Amino acid sequence: MWFPFPLLLVHCSILVVSSGAAESSHTLSVNQTLSDGQTLVSLGQVFELGFFSPGTSRNRYLGMWYRNSTPTYVWVANRNDPIVNSTAELALTQDGSLSLRNGSTSYWSVNTTAGASLQLLDDGNLVLKDGSGNYLWQSYDNITNTLLPGMKLGWNLETGSVRNMTSWASSTDPFSGQFTFSLDPPESPQLVLRKDGQKLYRWGPWNGVRFSGTSELRANPVFDPIFNSSPQEVYYSYQVVEDSVLSRLLLTWDGQIQYLSWRNSNEWTLMVTLQRDECDTYRKCGPFGSCYSGDMICKCLEGFVPTSPQSWNSIDWTDGCTRKWELNCGNGDGFNRDSENLASTSTPPEGVAFPQRRPILVFYPGLLGLGS
Ligand SMILES: *[C@@H]1O[C@H](CO)[C@@H](O)[C@H](O)[C@H]1NC(C)=O
Ligand SMILES: *[C@@H]1O[C@H](CO)[C@@H](O)[C@H](O)[C@H]1NC(C)=O
Ligand SMILES: *[C@@H]1O[C@H](CO)[C@@H](O)[C@H](O)[C@H]1NC(C)=O
Ligand SMILES: *[C@@H]1O[C@H](CO)[C@@H](O)[C@H](O)[C@H]1NC(C)=O
Ligand SMILES: *[C@@H]1O[C@H](CO)[C@@H](O)[C@H](O)[C@H]1NC(C)=O
Ligand SMILES: *[C@@H]1O[C@H](CO)[C@@H](O)[C@H](O)[C@H]1NC(C)=O
Repeated sequence: MWFPFPLLLVHCSILVVSSGAAESSHTLSVNQTLSDGQTLVSLGQVFELGFFSPGTSRNRYLGMWYRNSTPTYVWVANRNDPIVNSTAELALTQDGSLSLRNGSTSYWSVNTTAGASLQLLDDGNLVLKDGSGNYLWQSYDNITNTLLPGMKLGWNLETGSVRNMTSWASSTDPFSGQFTFSLDPPESPQLVLRKDGQKLYRWGPWNGVRFSGTSELRANPVFDPIFNSSPQEVYYSYQVVEDSVLSRLLLTWDGQIQYLSWRNSNEWTLMVTLQRDECDTYRKCGPFGSCYSGDMICKCLEGFVPTSPQSWNSIDWTDGCTRKWELNCGNGDGFNRDSENLASTSTPPEGVAFPQRRPILVFYPGLLGLGS
């Protein structure tokens, strides 16, 4: 594997990056600093860590991007604490802590007592190791808006830590935005998209084979979804089928969940969008309403009428439905037994409580050259 400069130099100092010739190391050792303008580059030249300003912003952030693509930031350290009208440096101190700071002003830190080196790996993991090579901290545990292949979305039940995705505030502001994407809860795992903490969409629960409601979220020519459930960990992850293809799962600032890949096209290609099936919207039809993908999305269950006919007719279904009359078990009221069979009919009879679902993943095989 080609390595850009002699290892000996790493020991002395991080090389200053002069304009044009970006000579970088992949490791930061104790007593070394990474200043604005310098970068760490993973050994195989896949990822780069350094300072950047997104869009036209003048704020500075420490973050990670692909070395060989248009600027695409996959991780940001100080997303909620930008460096404004100043500069800062990343330092691995003698006591083993990592901090992004200017003098006594700290923008981001990882506190340990044994940090010996910080390394950027080719899979996009930034790891702080102790003298024996154990990970004390890793950026894979600190997901921002991007899930890289191998990252785990979910729960580490031993440490109690949860790894969620949180969108940027806007396309040029890494500040924690309105949308989160998480796997919860571990007992009955569902993938949930929230806006301002309110459930918007959910996929699941995991039925042992796939997330119910997502018949398409399964192995395909581009990536293999992974769901793992053990006493130690419950998580969603994925791996790419072809190692040479860069691939990422992105929660966009406006709440879309996208799989993108980078081939030889010199641009990111949208492979899959977790499509917004209206019926995946949480509580779309309110109490006693049921959801159908189609023109008339919500219907009341048999024996129920819209609670607020006026808003129901103006396509606001959130008030749901109420009983036409009080239950009277001696008068023919009972359970509706047939919903299982009716699930397979394409036009459900009036008032049947079973949602018709479209697949919520949309593939674009033509864009990937898979269609031919
Ligand atoms: C770091 O710097 C301190 C103070 O200059 C020095 O005592 C220590 O030996 C250095 N540690 C390493 C690993 O170079
Ligand atoms: C940064 O500098 C600009 C222009 O000088 C000024 O308007 C702004 O208030 C400063 N921001 C902070 C946080 O100091
Ligand atoms: C700290 O900030 C001052 C003023 O903003 C700047 O002149 C200086 O270069 C900064 N120091 C580092 C280490 O970035
Ligand atoms: C790390 O320690 C510094 C200084 O004691 C403190 O300001 C900072 O909040 C700590 N960071 C974390 C993540 O605990
Ligand atoms: C991840 O980063 C956020 C914000 O910087 C911080 O609050 C959180 O403690 C970090 N988590 C881990 C596991 O490092
Ligand atoms: C992750 O999401 C779960 C479910 O919404 C929430 O309980 C938890 O606080 C979130 N954790 C983090 C670190 O954001």
